[in-house]
Amino acid sequence: MLFESIILGNMEVPNRFVRSATHEWMAEPDGTPTDRIGGMYEELARGEVGLIITGYAYVNPNGKSDNLQQGIYDDKFIEPYRKIVSRVHEHGSKIVVQIVHGGRQTMMSASNPVILAPSPVTNKKNGVTPEEMTEAEVLESIEDFANAARRAKEAGFDGVQLHVAHGFLLSNFISPYTNRRKDRWGGSTEKRTQIILDIIDRIHEMIGNEFPILVKLNATDGFPKGTKNVLDAPECVEIAKILAANGVCAIEVSGGIVEAGQEMFRTKIKSADSEAYYKGYSKMIKEAVDVPVMLVGGIRSKVVMEQMLDEGYADMISLSRPLICEPDLVTNIKNGETEVAKCVSCNLCSDESGIKCNYDFDNSDREHS
Ligand SMILES: Cc1cc2nc3c(=O)[nH]c(=O)nc-3n(C[C@H](O)[C@H](O)[C@H](O)COP(=O)(O)O)c2cc1C
Repeated sequence: MLFESIILGNMEVPNRFVRSATHEWMAEPDGTPTDRIGGMYEELARGEVGLIITGYAYVNPNGKSDNLQQGIYDDKFIEPYRKIVSRVHEHGSKIVVQIVHGGRQTMMSASNPVILAPSPVTNKKNGVTPEEMTEAEVLESIEDFANAARRAKEAGFDGVQLHVAHGFLLSNFISPYTNRRKDRWGGSTEKRTQIILDIIDRIHEMIGNEFPILVKLNATDGFPKGTKNVLDAPECVEIAKILAANGVCAIEVSGGIVEAGQEMFRTKIKSADSEAYYKGYSKMIKEAVDVPVMLVGGIRSKVVMEQMLDEGYADMISLSRPLICEPDLVTNIKNGETEVAKCVSCNLCSDESGIKCNYDFDNSDREHS
């Protein structure tokens, strides 16, 4: 099944492999995507990754989260993205841009001294208390996301993925921990999800209903089990159902916010048991929605990939770190040359000079990770 095609909205993806969004630290300081990024995506497309999701692209400079992050906040980005998209399409892969506002995890800087979030909940990781967004600021952000989708369509992308995971703005909205609002965007599960529906409506108004809208969804904030008033199952299933019923054509299941620890990219994945660490969530979500579900997080071996598809945990396999290490992993699995990804999940690939595998396979003990 790994090499069967699948339809997401009106997009046909040639196989079940997804390059999960991965920030590359390769854009210009103003967010312009570079040839270097295009080269990386082309290599992944040549390696037969069916669907490539870009690194997170910020929809407004007031929501930039990291250095050398790519942007999509201005029409000047359409042309450079168009070149990148065509490099991927030449090899038959699809490409979707992940769009984000940093919310509570925005990078504070001289030009951006105010951190915006649904509610002023202090981030215990860095001591920063964000400002509660006014109604006007929420409406502006909805407009920013919709304009980003318009630019994505104009650049030839096959769709957009709304980043509703990992503690950025839209994930702040869906979590009761970070959203304490009392207006129409806070309170019940439906109200915390409403901003996403507003973005989808605005995208539809701007560019019609056909452009695929995907979501990367936090199933859990990632705090210790039993922590009260945080996002977790079963609420994430309700959120997924709302999204699937309102125009989202595929849901990628992830988890974790920065404040809860580095839960989204775990280390020490040494056996099949520790792989696919969000599979319990994706199974619940897949059983509840009728759109394809992608699973990300620690998937390393062909046997687990097949199990995820065969046993109804997911429809697609999303990979981040393994494809930094081996951009040709998919081809190698297809040819029977590889059964397990080389990636040891050490996270040394988070490299501000541009992501790359920095693990020293010759001189390191695999147990290191
Ligand atoms: C260097 C690096 C950058 C990442 N950037 C993003 C990003 O831009 N957007 C996103 O949704 N997830 C991002 N992630 C998380 C991955 O997409 C993925 O969810 C996580 O690494 C677990 O999958 P893996 O075990 O296959 O690496 C990043 C991960 C890494 C290691």
